[in-house]
Formats: sequence, structure tokens, C-alpha cells
Amino acid sequence: MHRPTWAEVDLGAVAENASRLRARLTAGAQLMAVVKADGYGHGAVPAARAALAAGAAWLGVAIAEEAMALRAAGIAAPILVLGWTPPEQAQAAIQAGIDLTVFSLEDAAAYRGGRLHVKVDTGMSRLGFAVDEAPAAVARLAALPGVEVRGIFTHFAGSDDDDLSGARRQLTAFRRALEALPFRPPVVHAANTAAIFRLPEAHFDLGRAGIGLYGYGGPGLRPALRWLTRIAQVREVPPQTGVSYNWTYVTQTSETLATLPVGYADGLPRSLSNRGAVRIAGGRAPIRGRVCMDQTVVSLAEVPGAKPGDPVLLIGDGQWADDMAALAATIPYEILCRIGARVPRIYIGS
Ligand SMILES: Cc1ncc(COP(=O)(O)O)c(C=O)c1O
Repeated sequence: MHRPTWAEVDLGAVAENASRLRARLTAGAQLMAVVKADGYGHGAVPAARAALAAGAAWLGVAIAEEAMALRAAGIAAPILVLGWTPPEQAQAAIQAGIDLTVFSLEDAAAYRGGRLHVKVDTGMSRLGFAVDEAPAAVARLAALPGVEVRGIFTHFAGSDDDDLSGARRQLTAFRRALEALPFRPPVVHAANTAAIFRLPEAHFDLGRAGIGLYGYGGPGLRPALRWLTRIAQVREVPPQTGVSYNWTYVTQTSETLATLPVGYADGLPRSLSNRGAVRIAGGRAPIRGRVCMDQTVVSLAEVPGAKPGDPVLLIGDGQWADDMAALAATIPYEILCRIGARVPRIYIGS
């Protein structure tokens, strides 16, 4: 039994997307399945298992806790924490066989015995050693007791931009750092999903795919998540009826409204108030008034006959997370990873 608002995750689609991403990589490059933020909302452990079964060799997460949760679930594959691991968390992660990202020599002092990937900031201005500092940093890190410099990597700011000249400049800067290294670490990586598709010269030893795994960001991919709910109540209201908080919508004519048991606490953006639409029986049901914390009202004007209990599609079947994102002035990443913890994930296709 689960509440009548749920996300249906097709693990067959995740596996298929992983296979397609792998097929795009240049010879010798492996695939990292990026499963941070609970697998972009799809469930980190099931998404990781599906991707590994389809040939992904690595897993990527943002924080050490996410890596530990994968280990606790019995996943033995190599895992890299892509973000900052504070010194006090480092030894537990290293003991669990988790690779850490390093971008400061101060933190590295706490990373004894660890397998490290050196982050180089080639233009994102977010995390990493500067390009000119990286070679000396690699030499210092390699000299630390028990430390293995297993990887070196960078991240693109705009591999999804129409104009790839910025990404190419970043790649040139990354190559400059690589050429000045005292040795070449075994795993050199740079490409996210968009770069896997658009910048083969950035594949090196590993492509780090997040959004592509879940079906967005490249050709031939299949969205893995559908988001559904069911109608709680149906009512016909007279003209001049205010709907939801602050009456930001007032009916012009009499209108049949349906209340859905889903709201912004579940991740339905409040910015879709009076903007978005859901699908009921294949028809469009626009959102009326404010999206509330736990409930949302839609119009049944174009879907007469819908009744309490009927299924409602928030994401799926031609109305995907990127469509919702465009209406909410955000990106599919944010839509997907904000689907709330209280929305049960129901797995199919495993
Ligand atoms: C360092 C790093 N690599 C790879 C990814 C995956 O990117 P994408 O989801 O665009 O494939 C991310 C996600 O933000 C990231 O931060």
C-alpha cells in the first residue's frame, strides 16, 4: 500500500540509457553513473544497480554520506565523492573504499591512505586547484603517506551550450595541466552527459553521466521516471469563485475543478501556480490558483467525466521533466531531484 501520489521509475530505461551512453564513449573509456541526490530523485541504490548491470564501471556521488549508503546496500563498485569531504569524515569513507576528490593540500593531510582524484578548476570557478597549481599539487599529494593519486578531473560549465568554444577552452586548459604533471594518474576524466554526446575529445578514461542516465540531455535516451497522482475530489463551482490561497484564480464561468493530493512539499514547483498543467485521460488539465504544500487544484474543462480516484500524470507520456522545468523557469535536474522523500518510488523493469 502506498499513498496515491507516486513516482514510477523504469529501471529498464536507466539500464538502456547507461548502455547508450557507454556506446557513445571513445574506445577504452568507462562510464561513471552519477547517482548523487538520490539518483537525481530516482533512488540511488536501484539506479546504481541498474547502471552497473548495464556496464557502468564507476559510481559518482556528491557527498560521503551518499557513498556510504551505497556501500551499506552492498555495492562494491568504485565510488567517487565528487564534492568536498571534510577532514572529519575522510577516514570513515576511505575505510569503506571510497575515492575522494581533493582540491586543497590542507584537506589532503586528513586523507591518509586514500585514493584521491585531483580536481582542476579549468573555468567553472567552483572547486579545484588552479590549472597552474595542479602539477605541483599532484607531486605533493603523491608524496603523502599511503595516498594514491588515482585520478585527475575537471568539470565543464557549459558543455550543453550551443556554443562549445568555452568548453573547448576549458579542455585546452585541462590538457595544459595534464602535460605538466609529474606522472599521468590512471583515471583522467572530464565529460558529463552533454560532453559525452558533444565533445568526444573530452572522454579520456571515464565519462561521468548523470542526467543522461535518467533519460535527458542527449539523443536516443528515454526518461525513466513518470510522476503520478489520483484525483481526491471533483466539484463544479459557480462563476466568480476564488480558487486556492489568495484567490489568484477566479472562475469566469462555472467550472469543474479537481483537487490533487500533491503539492510543493512533494516537489511540484509553486511557480507552476496558474501556469502548469497535468494530464488526465490523455487531456490537459491546467493548474488553477496557487500550488499548495500538499494539494493542487486543476480544471477539468477539457477532460469532462474525470472522477475521484482517476489517475493523473504530472510527468510522463510526452510531458516530461524538461517541459515542466521550462514552465517553472528551471532545469529538469531540479525538477527530478526535488521530488520529495514522501513520494514513494515504485520500480518497474528491474
Ligand atoms: C562533477 C560532476 N560531474 C558530472 C556530473 C553529471 O552531470 P550531468 O548530469 O550533466 O551528466 C555532475 C553533475 O552536476 C558533476 O557535478
